[in-house]
Amino acid sequence: MRTFATLLAAGCLSASQLLAQTTPVFTVNASQINTPIQQTMWGIFFEDINFGADGGIYAELVKNRSFEFAAPLMGWKEQKPKNDPSNILIINRGDQSNNPRYARITVRTPNGYGLTNEGFRGMGIKGNEQYDFSILARVVEGNVKLRVDLVDGTNGAIGRTSVPLDGNTWKKYTGTFTASATEAKAKMNVWFEGTGIIEVDMISLFPQKTWKNRPGGLRPDLVQLLADMKPGFLRFPGGCIVEGRELDTRYQWKKTVGPVEDRELIVNRWNTEFRHKLTPDYYQSFGLGFYEYFLLSEDIGASPLPIINCGMACQFNSSEVAPLDALDEYVQDALDLIEFANGSTDSKWGKLRAQMGHPAPFNLKLLGIGNEQWGEQYVDRYKVFAKAIKAKYPEVRLISALGPNPDGELFDYLNPIFRSLKADILDEHYYRAPEWFLKQANRYDNYDRNGPKIFAGEYAAQSKAVASADNSNNWQCAMSEAAFMTGLERNADVVHMASYAPLFAHAEGWQWTPDLIWFNNLQSYGTPNYYVQKMYGTNKGTHVVSMTLNKETVAGQQGLYGNAVIDSVSKEVIIKIVNTSDKAVTSEVALEGVKKLAPAATAEVLKNDNLQLANSFAQPAALSPSQETIKLKGKKLPVTLAPYSFQVFRVKML
Ligand code: AHR
Repeated sequence: MRTFATLLAAGCLSASQLLAQTTPVFTVNASQINTPIQQTMWGIFFEDINFGADGGIYAELVKNRSFEFAAPLMGWKEQKPKNDPSNILIINRGDQSNNPRYARITVRTPNGYGLTNEGFRGMGIKGNEQYDFSILARVVEGNVKLRVDLVDGTNGAIGRTSVPLDGNTWKKYTGTFTASATEAKAKMNVWFEGTGIIEVDMISLFPQKTWKNRPGGLRPDLVQLLADMKPGFLRFPGGCIVEGRELDTRYQWKKTVGPVEDRELIVNRWNTEFRHKLTPDYYQSFGLGFYEYFLLSEDIGASPLPIINCGMACQFNSSEVAPLDALDEYVQDALDLIEFANGSTDSKWGKLRAQMGHPAPFNLKLLGIGNEQWGEQYVDRYKVFAKAIKAKYPEVRLISALGPNPDGELFDYLNPIFRSLKADILDEHYYRAPEWFLKQANRYDNYDRNGPKIFAGEYAAQSKAVASADNSNNWQCAMSEAAFMTGLERNADVVHMASYAPLFAHAEGWQWTPDLIWFNNLQSYGTPNYYVQKMYGTNKGTHVVSMTLNKETVAGQQGLYGNAVIDSVSKEVIIKIVNTSDKAVTSEVALEGVKKLAPAATAEVLKNDNLQLANSFAQPAALSPSQETIKLKGKKLPVTLAPYSFQVFRVKML
C-alpha cells in the first residue's frame, strides 16, 4: 500500500489532492484482528548507569561501605582534633575473599574520633521515618562503643543511635533510630567513643521504608514508578555494564548473589566514561544483584530478561574478547544462570535461590547473549552459546544483538546472518533524532513475517546527539517516540518487545541523557517519555485490529500516527493517535465490527504546544496525561486532536 508520505515523496500529490486530505476519517474494525500482542510487548531496560542502582534504586545510603573502592577512603572523612594520634588503617586480608579490605580504628584519646560518610551526593533522609544502621566489627583491644549521628547540611543532628561493641570476633551490630527532619544532603558521622582498637567493615545505613519494606531493599518511589508502567519484561543489568570496559570488569552474575558482604565490588564502567560528567566515585556494590533483579521482575509483574556477557568486552572501549576455545566458563555462567532462575531446589544453583528466600522458580524464558555486540567475533561466540543453551534448555528464547545502530555497516552485516541462523529474537537499538522516529513509524510494515522476532531493546529520541550532555527529555522527543511506537504496536506479530533506554538518572550523578526517570536523594519524577511508555504499557490490549485513515495505515498523513487494539479480556477497543502537527484536527473514528458500544469513551491525553517542554523537580507533572470522557455518536467517536498531542481512547464493547 502506498502511504501519503510515499506519494508525497514521489511528487504524486497535487495541491488540491493535499487539501482533500485535510479531513481525516479514521476507521477501526474491531473484528478484523491482525495479530495477538505479546505479554512482553512493552517493558523496561534497567542498567546501573547514572547512579541507577548504587545511589539510586538500591536504597543503601552509605557510599563505599566496605572500603573496597580503588581509593579505600573515598566517600569517608576522618574527624579528629588536631594532633590527636588516633587513626585509621586499611587492612587487606589478602586471602582471595570478595571483600578483602576492612578498617582498623585506633582510638588513642577519648577526645572524639569519627568517620563521616558523605553518601551519594549526600543522603536523602525523611523526617519521622526509621533508619537501620549496621556494621561488622570486632574489638581488638580496649573499650570502644559507637555513636552514630546523622547530621543535616549545617551539621545539626537529625538522628542518633548508640551501638555498644563487645568481643573480638567479627559480628554484625545494629542500631535503629527515627530521623527528626527531612534532609536531602545529610551525612553520617560514626563516632568511636572510649579508647582502644576496633576493626570495622560493611558500615551501612538503610531506610526501613523500602519497597515491600524489605530490609536492605529498594527505594519505594522508584520501584513504584516502574510498577505503574505495567511492564511486560525487565531487561537487566544493561547495557554496556554487561560487557565491562574490559573483560575483567564485565558483569558476572555469580558474584552478585549470596550474602551482600560476600559480593565482590567492582568499578562501574560509566565511572569516567564521559568527560562531560566524570563520576570517579561510581562503583557497583551489587547489593542489587541478580537475585534482587529477579525478585523485582516478579514484584512488578515483568518477565525477567537477563543479558549475559558472551566473552566480549565493550567494543566502544577495549574490544577484548575471550578466545573461542576458552569460552566454557562464560557459557557455563549462562547455563548456571538458567538453573539459578528455574532449576529445582535440589540443583546447585536452584538451591542457592531457595536459600536466598525464593524456592519457587523465577520462570526465566528469555536470555540475551551479549549486549550491543557486533562483527564476526560476535557471531562466532553467539553460535557457541546458542548451541550449548539450546541443547539443554530449548524452551529459553535467545536474544541476539544487532550492534549499536538500526542501519549501516554493522547492522547490515549481522542482520542477514542472524536471519539465516534462524535466531529467535533480534535486538535493535535506536538512539536517533526525533525526525528519525517519525520517518521510521512504518519500519516494520514490510519486515519478514516468518523471520526472527524483534526486540526494540534500547531506544530514545535524542534532541541534540547521541551521548550529548545537552539532550533533553522534552515533549518533541517523547511525542516522536509515541508516534514511532504506533508502528511497533501495529507490527506486534514481528515486534515482540520494546524498551526505552536508559531508565534512571540521578540529578547529580548522571552520565547519559536523556533518561526515562529522574530522581534526586528525596524525589523522583517521570519525564514526558515516561508517560508515553506508561500509556502504552497500561493500554497494551491483547490483539491488534485494523485501523485506517482515509483507507490507509495511519503512519504520517498530515502528521498523524495511529493504531488500534482490542482487549479481549476487558472487552474494549483501544485507539492510540498521535498528532505531530501544529494544527488541531477535528475528526471522528468510525468503529466497525462491533455490535454495540458503551455510550461514552475515556481518553487519556498528553499534549502541549511547547515542544521543548520537559518535566522537572519543580514541576514534575508539567507534561502528564489528563483524562477526558467523550460521548459517542452511535458507532462514531468524535475526536479533537490537539496540536502536538498523544491520546489513548478506550471504548467498551457491549
Ligand atoms: O543506554 C546507554 C547505553 O547505550 C547502553 O549501555 C548501551 O547498550 C548503549 O550503547
